[in-house]
Formats: sequence, structure tokens, C-alpha cells
Amino acid sequence: MKKQISFFLLATFAVLLFACSKRQAEELKPTVPTGPNGPTPVTTANVTYTNFAGALFQTKCNSCHGPNGALKSIWLFNGLASVKNDTRVANSVLVTKTMPKGGTLTVSERELLQAWFDKGMPE
Ligand code: HEC
Repeated sequence: MKKQISFFLLATFAVLLFACSKRQAEELKPTVPTGPNGPTPVTTANVTYTNFAGALFQTKCNSCHGPNGALKSIWLFNGLASVKNDTRVANSVLVTKTMPKGGTLTVSERELLQAWFDKGMPE
């Protein structure tokens, strides 16, 4: 009986672990597709709107702030200009960290985004 319980616990744990690692895999793992040696990872040195930041806003903000989002009247995300022209974006994500509401950014996503803002938000 005891053995059965511990097997059950182990199985539950394995399922949870699998679910979590699957979730991790869905994180943004950006690459620059046109590197001389095939795809190269996006780093704080080569980060742009096109290779990283745009996709981040699309996946982490668009559901609420996109053209069909419920919060578009507070901040409308509809491309690079909508980020560039509003200092509240960097502030809410990197300083006060109130956004993305109900979500999180990984450490590397935050680092890349910070670097992108520091570079003056290159396209
Ligand atoms: C689940 C919905 C949701 C998501 C996702 C979301 N927001 Fe918001 N956002 C809100 C709400 C609600 C407010 C109103 C203020 C508040 O409740 O904090 C807001 C307010 C804002 C504001 C204006 C107020 C301020 O904090 O200065 C900005 C800018 C903003 N969000 C940016 C973002 C960015 C950038 C992302 C993605 C990284 C994002 N939001 C993701 C719901 C969301």
C-alpha cells in the first residue's frame, strides 16, 4: 500500500515536471535567422525590435493592449512607434514591474529588453 502511494506521488511529480519543462520550452528563444553560420542567438549586443522586442510585446502584451484588447485605451500596442512614443512602457515593465499584468518575464527576456531600451529601441 505504502509502495503504491509513493509510486503515485512519483508519477504525479513526473507529470508536473514534464508540464513545467514544456512550459519553459514555450518561452521566447529568439534567434537571428540570417547569421553567416545559420541561426544565431539574440544577445544584448544584437537585440532589435524585429528579432526580439516585437515578438515579446506581441506575446506578452497584445492580448490586453493590442487593437482588440480590453486595455487599448490605456496603452495601445500596435507596433514599434507605440512603444517608442510612450515612456510608460519601459517604466511599467522594467522599473515598477507592474507589467505584464498576470504574467512574468524571464531573467533573460528582461535583460534583452533592458538592452534594447538602452540602445534606443533599434528597429
Ligand atoms: C492581462 C492584461 C494585461 C497584460 C497582458 C498587460 N497589461 Fe498593461 N495594463 C493592464 C491593466 C489592467 C492596466 C491598468 C493599470 C493597472 O491595472 O495596473 C495596464 C496598464 C498599462 C500601462 C499604463 C499604466 C502604467 O503602468 O504606466 C502600460 C504602459 C502597460 N500596461 C504596458 C504593458 C506592457 C508593456 C505589457 C507587456 C509586457 C502589458 N502592459 C501587459 C493589463 C495588462
